[in-house]
Order: sequence, then C-alpha cells, then structure tokens
Amino acid sequence: MIIAVPKETAPGERRVALIPDMVRQLVKQELEVVVERGAGAEATFSDDAYETAGAKIESDVAALFGRADVVLKVQPPGETGSGGHEADLIREGSVAIGFMKPLDEPELAGRMAKGGITSFALELMPRITRAQSMDVLSSQNTVQGYRAVLLAAQALPRLFPMMVTAAGTISPARVLIVGAGVAGLQAIATARRLGAVVEAYDTRPAVKEQVQSLGARFVELEIEAEDAEDAGGYARAQTEEFYAKQRELLGQRVRAADVVITTALVPGQTAPRLIEEDVVRDMKPGSVIVDLAAEKGGNCAVTKENQVVFAHGVQVMGPTNLPSTAPFHASQLYSKNITTYLNHLVKEGKLIVDLEDELTRAPLLTYRGEVMHEETKSRLDSGGD
Ligand code: NAI
Repeated sequence: MIIAVPKETAPGERRVALIPDMVRQLVKQELEVVVERGAGAEATFSDDAYETAGAKIESDVAALFGRADVVLKVQPPGETGSGGHEADLIREGSVAIGFMKPLDEPELAGRMAKGGITSFALELMPRITRAQSMDVLSSQNTVQGYRAVLLAAQALPRLFPMMVTAAGTISPARVLIVGAGVAGLQAIATARRLGAVVEAYDTRPAVKEQVQSLGARFVELEIEAEDAEDAGGYARAQTEEFYAKQRELLGQRVRAADVVITTALVPGQTAPRLIEEDVVRDMKPGSVIVDLAAEKGGNCAVTKENQVVFAHGVQVMGPTNLPSTAPFHASQLYSKNITTYLNHLVKEGKLIVDLEDELTRAPLLTYRGEVMHEETKSRLDSGGD
C-alpha cells in the first residue's frame, strides 16, 4: 500500500500531515510512504529527514497522487499551484484522509464521491474516549487556544502578570474566555501561566469544575441554557431570546476585561453572536479581542475573518488558522492523530472500510460514489445552504 503526503497548498498553511517519526512507524509496518518534495519544510521537517525515516521523495505532484492508495492531508483537497485541483488528481478507488470541512464545502464531498474517492473527514471523529488519540479537533484546538493568548498578550499595551517593582506595582491583566471547550481551556491555562486574572463562561455547566481546576473563576450568568449539551458533549443552539439575554449579561464582564478570547461554537451552525459593537465601544482603550469563531462568522459583531480590526480603540482579531503558526508541534500532534487512525483502518496491509465500526463509519464522508455523511448530503442536495 502506498501512502502519499502532498505539500499543503492552501494559502498560509504551514503544517504537514505526516512527520518523519510517523513515517518510520509506517515503514516498519511495510507500508510505502511517498512525500512531496518540500512538504514538511515550513514545519521544519526536511526532505532528508523524511528519506532517513524511510520515505521516498517525489517532485511531481501528479505522479505522487497517481501512485497513491492513501493520501494524507491537513486541509481539504484544493487548488494545486498549477491551476488544477487535488480532488481531480486523487485516483478513483483510492482513499483521502484529513480535515474535509464537510459542512462548509459540501460540493467538495460531491466532487470526491463522483470521482470514486473514499474520503474520511477527521473532524467528524466521535468525541469518545476510544477516539481521543485520533481527535484532530482537540489536538489542533489546543495549539489554537495557546496561540490566541500569546497573540493577545503581544497586542495588549499592558503586561499580563502582577509585578511589584521599585518603580511601582503593576496590576494583572483581566482575561475573559468565552466558551470553555478544548481551545478555551487551553487559553485559560496559558493566560494563567502568564499571570493574568482569568474568568470564563460556557453555556455547558459541566465545564465549571474544569474552569475552576485551572485557577479561573467561572462566570455565572442569571440565565440557564436549555438542554445545554448534546449526547456528543457539544453545545446545543439556544433561542435568540437566550442569546439576547446572554449578550446583555456577558457584556458587563466583557467591559471589565482587558482581553477577551471567544471560542463559542455550535456544530454545523454559524457562531452565536455574543458581543455587540456597543460593548466593544465601552471597553478600555487598548483592549484586545481574539475571536476564534471568526471562520464561522465570529462571536463578536466587529470581527472580520483573518483581519485585525481597530474599533473604538479596541483591537479585534479574527485569525482562522492559528495551529499553522506553530507548524512543528501542530504537525507533530496531527501526524500522531492521523497515523493512529490509519492504523485503526489498516488490517494486514489493507485499508478496510468496516461500516459496522463507529470510528470508521462516523468520519466516512464519501464511499463508492456516495456522500455518506447525512448532513453534508442534505446540504449538497439543497445547494450548500
Ligand atoms: P466547540 O469548539 O464546538 O465549542 C467551543 C465551546 O463553546 C464549547 O465548550 C461550547 O459549549 C461553547 N459554547 C457554545 N455556545 C456558547 C455560548 N452561547 N456561550 C458560551 N459558550 C458557548 O467545542 P470543543 O472544544 O470541540 O468541545 C466539544 C465537546 O467535546 C466538549 O464537551 C469537550 O469536553 C468534548 N470533548 C471530548 C473528547 C473526548 O472524550 N474524546 C475530546 C475533546 C472534546
């Protein structure tokens, strides 16, 4: 079986799907690994390191895809540098594994199904204990939460820790984290390590203890989310009435903060709007908002995707690919996730699609000409709405 690792082509993407250490593991299992020349360069993994680990290096992208039984990617198949599309280069009957953004790009799923590609969307992996080591959302959101705090700390005209110096005492920065999932919890931990006073809010009351165990205060609002959590542990969407009340109550905490990091998401939906512009206007000059929900429309009304907006003296940042700003470790973690998943799928040198197995079935996006993920299929059928 030949496993191919192309160089990522999405603008700004510096990660690579497989690092040399994982190549070594796969080669030991008598799988052949072919890596596109320069695929790991931005994440500091050289072609030499891949060769030493047992991979072959290929310069011709079409040849790379043409030979592959399995293609490992970070970003969904997209435009190649030379005007083609990766989905057209992947051979009929072969397998693609990576982030596939199925609900945002249902037409890609349709294209892969048509092309006879079996594809696995790693973001659809069930959030269960058995799948933890294959959970790319968790590994990449951990990097994201960490980087978001550093971004804010750099931009803030204040320092994070309290300092008692001969020139006077500096009071610590006040950081508010909205949404205490994987990214939010890592943001709390990072802000605490830098010495800030941290508080956090989430609609899921279950996270209160986790927030407190990281040394942050859990913000209690005088509203209760109905049915806050689904069976998979994800937040459920709330009524507009709830969000209006939340915006009002949370506004008081936002106004008091120097830094706000928002991560609130509901799977498959646009991000809930939690901070209106009038609240931004009331923040102290120099305050910073990092909106990690920017790709889904943003939690803050001012946010613009991949931009820094200066509004009323406040910097509002909407980065959409922070994991790529730490490409070495983000790739290391991603590579471990994807290798563990590949090992789960491969039995005696063959990739088996066992539809009875939850960890195979849930991420299976396209198979035998069909879009297998129901929600993606219905978005595709309704024209991507
Ligand atoms: P996410 O990225 O989908 O959302 C981020 C956070 O925003 C969540 O904590 C969510 O509750 C919160 N949120 C949604 N609407 C909000 C609102 N209006 N106001 C404030 N907060 C709001 O979540 P993530 O990080 O992917 O985690 C989802 C779940 O999966 C969690 O329960 C997490 O503990 C669980 N999980 C389980 C794993 C496992 O067992 N293998 C691994 C990783 C996560």
